[in-house]
Amino acid sequence: MLKGDKVLLRAVTEDDLATMWSWDSDIELVTLGDDEPPLPRTLESFREQINKHLNKPEEASIFAIEADGALIGTCSLFHFDPTARTAELGISIGDRDYWGRGYGREAVRLLLEYAFRYRNQHKVYLSTFDDNERAIRSYMGCGFVEEGRLREHIWVDGRYKDMVYMGIMRSEWAAQKGEPAQT
Ligand SMILES: CC(C)(COP(=O)(O)OP(=O)(O)OC[C@H]1O[C@@H](n2cnc3c(N)ncnc32)[C@H](O)[C@@H]1OP(=O)(O)O)[C@@H](O)C(=O)NCCC(=O)NCCS
Repeated sequence: MLKGDKVLLRAVTEDDLATMWSWDSDIELVTLGDDEPPLPRTLESFREQINKHLNKPEEASIFAIEADGALIGTCSLFHFDPTARTAELGISIGDRDYWGRGYGREAVRLLLEYAFRYRNQHKVYLSTFDDNERAIRSYMGCGFVEEGRLREHIWVDGRYKDMVYMGIMRSEWAAQKGEPAQT
């Protein structure tokens, strides 16, 4: 559906769910990004939860990230505010072979294209943990800036962490592309 040089963002299919569930059970991966404690979930309950979102794509638009013909992760836009036209972005590359090689950056850039060009958003924001340097650098590379942080706000993996909030305005995204700003 959205194609870059390295990755394709497409709809999630039934065939993806077992791999996505294995990532959901990967405690290292989950504690890098989830703001809720890891839970031992069955495939069935995972499927139920995902299907709730997949069936309402206008509320939570979840994409499979595909590279080299295989599923490597997922990314999404959610918490759409129809008045302010803001949305939150989430991403997780489950396949570690694809970390730190620009795949996340390209997927986020495609998702921003989707948010601003096709969904007419005004701003996209996200949160991450203070020690997730790879994520923070990847997001900065897409034009996100830090907007603030909630200090020692969350307990993850044995310690309190700051929640770092980052955002990118439509005008900033357009400037990067050399396009006229439209609000
Ligand atoms: C976060 C994530 C989406 C980033 O995508 P990616 O493809 O791995 O990252 P990119 O290659 O786009 O960018 C990585 C940046 O961090 C740097 N980096 C790579 N490995 C790093 C490491 N171990 N520590 C610190 N920085 C690192 C790279 O040099 C690059 O920065 P630069 O371009 O300024 O040099 C991906 O790693 C991921 O999904 N990780 C697991 C789950 C997760 O952390 N999700 C995010 C939750 S908010």
